[in-house]
Amino acid sequence: MKALLLGGAGFIGLHLARRLVTDGYEVTIVDDFSRGRQDADLDALRAQPGVRVVSADLTDPAAYAGLPAGWDQIYLLAAVVGVRNVEQDPARVVRVNTLAALHLLDWVAPGERVFFASTSEVYAGGVDAGVVGVPTAEDVPAMISDITAPRFAYAVSKLLGEAAFLHTARAKGFDAVVGRFHNVYGPRMGADHVIPEMSLRAKSGEDPFRVPGADQFRAFCHVDDAVEAMVRLMATPAAAGQIVHIGNDREETNIGDLAKLVLRVAGASPEIEASPAPAGSVHRRCPDLDRLRSLTGFEPSVTLEEGVRTTFAWYAQNGRPS
Ligand SMILES: NC(=O)c1ccc[n+]([C@@H]2O[C@H](COP(=O)([O-])OP(=O)(O)OC[C@H]3O[C@@H](n4cnc5c(N)ncnc54)[C@H](O)[C@@H]3O)[C@@H](O)[C@H]2O)c1
Repeated sequence: MKALLLGGAGFIGLHLARRLVTDGYEVTIVDDFSRGRQDADLDALRAQPGVRVVSADLTDPAAYAGLPAGWDQIYLLAAVVGVRNVEQDPARVVRVNTLAALHLLDWVAPGERVFFASTSEVYAGGVDAGVVGVPTAEDVPAMISDITAPRFAYAVSKLLGEAAFLHTARAKGFDAVVGRFHNVYGPRMGADHVIPEMSLRAKSGEDPFRVPGADQFRAFCHVDDAVEAMVRLMATPAAAGQIVHIGNDREETNIGDLAKLVLRVAGASPEIEASPAPAGSVHRRCPDLDRLRSLTGFEPSVTLEEGVRTTFAWYAQNGRPS
């Protein structure tokens, strides 16, 4: 069995690649290393039999033309992500995320099976406006509150991707599964996300310990659970043509309590300095996982404490990624 991981040197991609190799797949990773890293973790994976890493820019159709055909599974993970990127260069977000998806759709062959990585951001505008409930299911209206705001460039690019994958799959005769990730975290995810960022500050002994958005609620999903959900969806024929929420609905936490957990894991007890959330950040986010459960039998299995411990340990050992 052969799997193609587009954007596979990034956070979710590398964890997925490891899992697929364990399951006996030959894995090809394509990445332009704009964010994915050539590090010891990638080197260790590349040393395994059947793993190939290709450096290419997926906004160029030649990158696809240079790949062999005949994949059992294709995952599109490549995208410009992260609040900082989205705020600084929304035009790049729209261009890269859209072109990478459309070129893939021109290239994919009938009969193949493709996973498109989408996001909870596609409906976040509706949560902000109070018209979408939380926990949130897949069939709520997607909503872009302000098309001119940089923040929504990412959501718009992913919404277009969802529509493009679902319609083109029907038109060309391949299977498409759209997974909307909700706050996936874990080792080797960069330093911008709240759990690694808090881990690094706790490790460095910050005191007072800053906690922006302490009263916001999130449901964090460990990357091993996200990978399990993806693998199950790709093995489930009935998931084709569906949008499915991926996350962990079992341990919603507020950011203040998360900070206390990180500090406990770090063995630190500084004074806590809570402050308001950054503008535009949703107050509460939690997926409704009924569709994922009924399609695949998936149940999240990594507790928040366990996940924070392994993530903290990785950042304590590896430091801030360059
Ligand atoms: N991590 C989360 O919680 C989360 C939440 C919602 C959605 N997602 C989606 O899941 C996917 C994977 O996310 P991640 O957290 O692993 O992000 P990531 O940034 O770690 O991985 C994306 C990878 O794509 C690569 N890439 C970007 N542009 C490229 C291009 N033009 N050509 C080739 N490669 C390119 C990057 O170098 C990177 O390695 C993304 O599509 C993201 O939008 C993630």
